[in-house]
Amino acid sequence: MSQLLIVIFSLLGLINTVSNAIIQEGVCDYKISVVPQFNVTAYQGVWYDIESLPSEFQDGACNTATYNLNSAGTALNLQNTQISNGILNFTTGTAQPQVGAAGSAKFDVTIEPPGSTPVPYWVLDTDYETFALVYSCRNNTGTNTRTINSWKLGRKKGPLPNDINIRINDSIEGIESLKNASNQFITRDHSEEACSYFVDFDGPCPTTVTGVADFDVNKFLGTWYEVARYPQTAQTGQCNRAVYTASATTPGVVDVENSQVTDETRLTISGVASATEQPGVLAVNFTIGDGKLFNLY
Ligand SMILES: *[C@@H]1O[C@H](CO)[C@@H](O)[C@H](O)[C@H]1NC(C)=O
Ligand SMILES: *[C@@H]1O[C@H](CO)[C@@H](O)[C@H](O)[C@H]1NC(C)=O
Ligand SMILES: *[C@@H]1O[C@H](CO)[C@@H](O)[C@H](O)[C@H]1NC(C)=O
Ligand SMILES: *[C@@H]1O[C@H](CO)[C@@H](O)[C@H](O)[C@H]1NC(C)=O
Ligand SMILES: *[C@@H]1O[C@H](CO)[C@@H](O)[C@H](O)[C@H]1NC(C)=O
Ligand SMILES: *[C@@H]1O[C@H](CO)[C@@H](O)[C@H](O)[C@H]1NC(C)=O
Repeated sequence: MSQLLIVIFSLLGLINTVSNAIIQEGVCDYKISVVPQFNVTAYQGVWYDIESLPSEFQDGACNTATYNLNSAGTALNLQNTQISNGILNFTTGTAQPQVGAAGSAKFDVTIEPPGSTPVPYWVLDTDYETFALVYSCRNNTGTNTRTINSWKLGRKKGPLPNDINIRINDSIEGIESLKNASNQFITRDHSEEACSYFVDFDGPCPTTVTGVADFDVNKFLGTWYEVARYPQTAQTGQCNRAVYTASATTPGVVDVENSQVTDETRLTISGVASATEQPGVLAVNFTIGDGKLFNLY
């Protein structure tokens, strides 16, 4: 009996992590009122995501959005940042006012790469100087459901002032869709720890780093377990290992199989390595889909 419960809870946990965006019954309500005579000039600048509904776009902490009017003054260019797994994730895009109306607080946000589906972005309330309450709703095609997002943005990192939270709660109370999700807002962490990330280094690779002088590739073959790593985007899983074997077909070439576990699945990439003129330095080619990634090791 208790084992069954554990299985059920594990399944629920899994479902929560896989599709964490909020899906509700019914299509989007297009009559929800937004800020009248929206001042896009005053809305520019940096906003911190203080609290937001769970989102498939946001798996990190320290989330920010920066808006700047484009040169024509017709739309906002945007930069979103979040820190995920010790890495700065930086995305850019545009926020285009809907129906081209000046003073519209309804935008269509398109995140790079171009051609991706625009997402509605409605500013429900803002004083431009302290806070903004933003709402987004998409119909899910083929089902009578919608996916919603909402952000409580602040001009500063800390919690919003109490009077602002009361004002925001008043807005949320007036919108059925948000009211139903009001207790699902997640407080986003903007602490120094959550906001620290590993930087990419400037300049070319250092020439002062050298390989093992009398490197013996045959002794190096076999399985290696990763103990620690500098964060990198291609490796977010656990249980990472590398298996090196002498190529059966090409003398002097080492077959490389790197793997990691993500969502209980072991993912593998394969490559081939060969010695270079520098001792202890191998050239490795990985095949990724149709592409190739070349590295020195
Ligand atoms: C919009 O905001 C800008 C910058 O704060 C301000 O200079 C301008 O007067 C505002 N426009 C209106 C119509 O209120
Ligand atoms: C950055 O975030 C976007 C949206 O969540 C995600 O699709 C993308 O994979 C992330 N990129 C990296 C390098 O983590
Ligand atoms: C969502 O569905 C409603 C009702 O069918 C429709 O009025 C609205 O245009 C749809 N919105 C989008 C973005 O597809
Ligand atoms: C606003 O609503 C949230 C969620 O219901 C609640 O936790 C919070 O205490 C409310 N804040 C204020 C200032 O009323
Ligand atoms: C909100 O929740 C109530 C009760 O659970 C439900 O009847 C209603 O359909 C929900 N409304 C929306 C917009 O999801
Ligand atoms: C790796 O790719 C480079 C460039 O395509 C090629 O010159 C080299 O022979 C390849 N190395 C191996 C071991 O296949």
